[in-house]
Amino acid sequence: MPRPTTVHVCSSCGAEAPRWLGQCPGCGEWNTLVEETRAPAPAAGRGRSPAPAGRAVKPVPLSSVRAVQHVRLQTGIGELDRVLGGGLVPGSLVLIGGSPGIGKSTLTSMALGNLQGAGKRTLYVSGEESAAQIRLRAERLPGAALEVPVLAETDLETVVATLDAERPEVCVIDSVQTLHAADLTSAAGSVGQVREVADRITRLAKARDIAVLLVGHVTKEGSLAGPRVLEHLVDCVLQFEGERERTYRTLRALKNRFGSTNDVGVFEMRQGGLVEVQDASARFVGEATRAPGSAVLAAMEGSRPLLVEVQALVSPSELVPPRRVVNGIDRNRLALVLAVLGRHAGVSVGSADVFVNVAGGVRVDEPGADLAVALAVASAVRGLPLGGDSPKPVACFGEVGLTGELRSVGHADRRLAEARKFGLGPVIAPAGSEGGATEAPTLRAALRAALPQQPRARAA
Ligand SMILES: Nc1ncnc2c1ncn2[C@@H]1O[C@H](COP(=O)(O)OP(=O)(O)OP(=O)(O)O)[C@@H](O)[C@H]1O
Ligand SMILES: [Mg+2]
Repeated sequence: MPRPTTVHVCSSCGAEAPRWLGQCPGCGEWNTLVEETRAPAPAAGRGRSPAPAGRAVKPVPLSSVRAVQHVRLQTGIGELDRVLGGGLVPGSLVLIGGSPGIGKSTLTSMALGNLQGAGKRTLYVSGEESAAQIRLRAERLPGAALEVPVLAETDLETVVATLDAERPEVCVIDSVQTLHAADLTSAAGSVGQVREVADRITRLAKARDIAVLLVGHVTKEGSLAGPRVLEHLVDCVLQFEGERERTYRTLRALKNRFGSTNDVGVFEMRQGGLVEVQDASARFVGEATRAPGSAVLAAMEGSRPLLVEVQALVSPSELVPPRRVVNGIDRNRLALVLAVLGRHAGVSVGSADVFVNVAGGVRVDEPGADLAVALAVASAVRGLPLGGDSPKPVACFGEVGLTGELRSVGHADRRLAEARKFGLGPVIAPAGSEGGATEAPTLRAALRAALPQQPRARAA
């Protein structure tokens, strides 16, 4: 009788090793191998070339395949539906990742509440909280959140059997890391377990046309915990980002088999749950200060223009090397911008500490933010507000090149239109942006346009 075998699987790259090793033979990472038990493979015939065990099937041309047009399920949360590409596709698996306390359970509970209210069959499976805890959350949420059937369970077999019996149209599994397959010896949340859970749920979801929202944990570094294969297995991967202490959260698609990955939803956490922020630009511009060190960036959040305030503080430092603290932008981009400012635009921060923050807890991960960072830092160094006495705040966008040139970025027309809509001006942009922008071919020219006054003081 063949016995189950034990293999060691890398939690980083998924490579297998016959025994435990300190370093993964696949990706070279240390301490990533975890033990996994495998069911025995069926015995192959002896002495002959191995005959295929399966039955051959005739492949069919695509033109004769019947394509089912699915009607997407509207979650009633406009920003979520938009990021999903127009709503949930029946039978699809959506993985929602995010740091602890960001609002994953709130978002999924609200979506189920709305769907339940719209007459859909729903089920909320929680391995993290008791039914009583889930009720407490549902009490503060709008819609039919209290009508959603819940199952507080961690055993995978029970969850799969319940799903099969209940046949909900939409189901939430909160979270994939807490479910446990009894036939695997490893602990819940381990690579093998997560893979098994996702695999079983996927098969059931596809067979029964259940749209599943899988909640996933993220690692310290912010990427989704568990094997990479989890991301391949699901149809859509959504990342819920923001900082717990801040009210704004963004939801973006990292992968979407049924829509674009360009859209971003902005939410605000309130007493009554997550509220969609449709007029995010108006909020951020309204809150923007016109003090030295503040610049308004016409950013693109996916396919949507968004005006955000970039703030910089430059202050004398006691430390060697001085601090470079960023919030909402990439630290390496700040280093690049500071180097170009010093080398090509005559703005040196010397040994001063530099802090850069995108107000409102928003993250802008695009090179188009460079110019706003540069102008905010230059304005802080000189102690002068951008635009001088102009009644309208200055807006800007553009990538800073290593030779001090300003490089164009995508969607200049939409950025300009958004800045104009909110009465900002001038809009400093790379050459060729047109549409009434104040075009600057270089960073030095952009500085001249934004800070016409002579330098008053240097911070360091
Ligand atoms: N009464 C309330 N008013 C406003 N915000 C609240 C209230 N109760 C909870 N919150 C917010 O909701 C957040 C928790 O949301 P939720 O439980 O949905 O997060 P989560 O991402 O599922 O967390 P976890 O990873 O722990 O499961 C809290 O961090 C808090 O900011
Ligand atoms: Mg939760």
